[in-house]
Amino acid sequence: MNPAPNLVLVGPMGAGKTSIGRRLAERFGLSFVDADHAIEQRTGATISAIFEHMGESGFRERESAVLAELLAGEAQLVATGGGAVLDPGNRRLMQERGFVVYLCAGLESQLKRLARDRSRPLLQRPDREQVLRELARVREPLYREVADLVMDTDGLTAAEASSRLCLQLAERWNGNGVAA
Ligand code: S3P
Repeated sequence: MNPAPNLVLVGPMGAGKTSIGRRLAERFGLSFVDADHAIEQRTGATISAIFEHMGESGFRERESAVLAELLAGEAQLVATGGGAVLDPGNRRLMQERGFVVYLCAGLESQLKRLARDRSRPLLQRPDREQVLRELARVREPLYREVADLVMDTDGLTAAEASSRLCLQLAERWNGNGVAA
């Protein structure tokens, strides 16, 4: 049994980290925290505005600072942004302070789930499929490296995915949460 004090979700945009994360947090009695939302609250700016004015590197700095702050706490479910695994320090911290679940999704599901999204700066271009493919090429090995558990969300609703995950986590994770 892994005794990590937090649950951490990693995976690409459109894998369902927020929708699955909210349900799981409820079932385990954890506080749900969306790292992107926490960044927006701390900086008083949207993710798009941070990318626009400070560039991706400025965003990544803030992302690392917020993750360090969040993961110092416990009994939380932290849904991370798709690029949070790029930084080795973030990965180390996630592993030290969390039971890490990689939610994976195929390109088709991602495109479908993100079809109407206008808020993600990396996808504000016509060649979304290419962008997602390239991001996956670089990041997939990092998601796997950091993960204690891998779950494929393709073809599952958020409710189905969280029910399955709940069962698997009950066997593998002995954190602060109490399964309802
Ligand atoms: C990003 C993913 C986004 C957000 C930002 C950058 C990425 O989070 O952090 O737009 O680099 O993949 P979600 O994965 O929650 O969409």
